[in-house]
Amino acid sequence: MAEPEALAFDMYGTLVDPIRIWKRLEGYVPDKDALRIAEVWRQKQLEFTFRLTVMERYEDFEEVTRKALDYALAESGRELEEDRKEALMAQYNDLERFEDVEPGLERLKELGYSMVVFSNGSPRMLDEIMDAAGLRSYLEGYVSVDDVKMFKPAPKVYRHVADQLERPIGEVRLISSNPFDIIGAEAAGMQAAWVDRSGGLFDTLGSRPEVVVGALTELADALEARRG
Ligand code: 2OP
Repeated sequence: MAEPEALAFDMYGTLVDPIRIWKRLEGYVPDKDALRIAEVWRQKQLEFTFRLTVMERYEDFEEVTRKALDYALAESGRELEEDRKEALMAQYNDLERFEDVEPGLERLKELGYSMVVFSNGSPRMLDEIMDAAGLRSYLEGYVSVDDVKMFKPAPKVYRHVADQLERPIGEVRLISSNPFDIIGAEAAGMQAAWVDRSGGLFDTLGSRPEVVVGALTELADALEARRG
């Protein structure tokens, strides 16, 4: 049987749960504002990465995340002291992994899959979260888009992680809960698997990938079935 494909795991929302950030936010602003601020923060964070990439400019994910937080607070008419904003940013580097991550990665490792993290996160952020979430014993390391100074879904970032893995891009599969990432990977010629953690709508910009799972514990069976 052919060598198993290499797996590249998205980080935020796929391996780790941003819920702790929202909980920390609820300690700083009225509950009625916390969810909106958290949602606007994430939307603006991604919007900034898309806009910077289209403009052929680059600021790392930490800077973009901080600027997006400032926007989300201002949009809700909220001010936070600098130390509280720092605490929120620090929480980004101390998120817990979803409960299906350890058993899911354990099984894939036993089956011989080569696995890395592949994320918009800056090297410093990824170093910290890999330790905080206890991911190092399952994953061979991380590839940050910071190496190529542009963000997902630019084709160059997917080509870069395939190069780092020394595999043809068609033998690498992105594992992500973010539809924009899935569509971007497939547009670059990479395989993909959507981890549907929201039971929600897939993006209408593209079609769902052939592999869709509700949790990482389903991924090994889904991939082995395809290997036949
Ligand atoms: C990532 O980790 C943005 O969640 C996305 O690359």
